[in-house]
Amino acid sequence: MHDTLPPTDLCRLLGCRLPLLLAGMGGVARSELVAAVTGAGAFGFLGMVREPLALIEREVAQVRARTDLPFGVNLIPAATPAPLLREQVGLCITLRVPVVCLFWDVDRAVVERLRGAGITVVHQVGSVQDALDAQEAGAQALIAQGVEAGGHVRGRQPLAGLLAGVLAAARVPVAAAGGLADGRDVARVLAAGAQAAVLGTALIATHESFAHDYHKRRLVAARASDTLLTEDFHVNWPPHAAVRVLRNSVTRGERGDPFGPAPATGPAVIGEEEGRPIHLFSTDSPLRSMTGDFEAMALYAGRGVDRIAGVEPAADCVRRIAAEAAAQLAR
Ligand SMILES: Cc1cc2nc3c(=O)[nH]c(=O)nc-3n(C[C@H](O)[C@H](O)[C@H](O)COP(=O)(O)O)c2cc1C
Repeated sequence: MHDTLPPTDLCRLLGCRLPLLLAGMGGVARSELVAAVTGAGAFGFLGMVREPLALIEREVAQVRARTDLPFGVNLIPAATPAPLLREQVGLCITLRVPVVCLFWDVDRAVVERLRGAGITVVHQVGSVQDALDAQEAGAQALIAQGVEAGGHVRGRQPLAGLLAGVLAAARVPVAAAGGLADGRDVARVLAAGAQAAVLGTALIATHESFAHDYHKRRLVAARASDTLLTEDFHVNWPPHAAVRVLRNSVTRGERGDPFGPAPATGPAVIGEEEGRPIHLFSTDSPLRSMTGDFEAMALYAGRGVDRIAGVEPAADCVRRIAAEAAAQLAR
């Protein structure tokens, strides 16, 4: 009997021991968290959507200062102004980032540019059609994201059905994401054919995540039924992009109409991050570096939130989930 999970082909492609991936969560998945999960045997993506080049460069250097193991960077072409995206991709190439994970609309030119530079490309998808498009564009692995996921949710299919469909259609390894938060969840998707499980929300509730303590505390207290899909947090994103968050004053309609005309005084400011205003209805979630009215921000949470019992070191979370999943699969 194994006391932890054996590596899969996807592990060999990425260069990790365990078939567990830290989701590239914007704002939250920074170098401290990536290094911690990597050290425990999983694979980590820095969530760098829309981040300036200086921050990406610093975070990549800080991962490298903490570990020699490979890691990835997550970018979202559709949510990033074109000139910044071009520079972000160029920087990943210059820095020789080993793996880049992309999400939302498949941007063939970006996939080709990264592949041309020898970078391994992973694409998160929310439908079989997205999976086929990403594979056709050159993605070497896919993440099937079910509707249970926290954060931006691309498709509307529950994970089990989507995973089966993507596995049937794909020639490349497939990982599963959405609502996975304990060993049983991970064992279930591995048994169904996924080559790794992606953990997002479960790894926010760790000491190393860059989320503000307020967000972590809310996750520990929440149930799956406290989450919902909404388009209320939309500023900075393409239209009709739904997010799964905890219900709050915004989703209850107590903060006004997210799609109404902006007040004459400009959009309401509900917080601040190092001099940058945080606007009501924006996609920003509470981070360590912020102050403000956290209750009204996007409190991202997947449906696995039920199974988050406390805030722990990320390496403990990875090892515990891997051991539970191995025991479950051995039964
Ligand atoms: C706080 C948060 C931020 C996220 N940001 C991103 C992102 O920037 N890029 C991305 O590809 N996915 C992002 N996601 C989605 C994850 O990649 C993944 O699909 C999701 O976390 C899986 O579901 P789970 O949270 O239930 O584990 C985010 C998710 C969360 C919870």
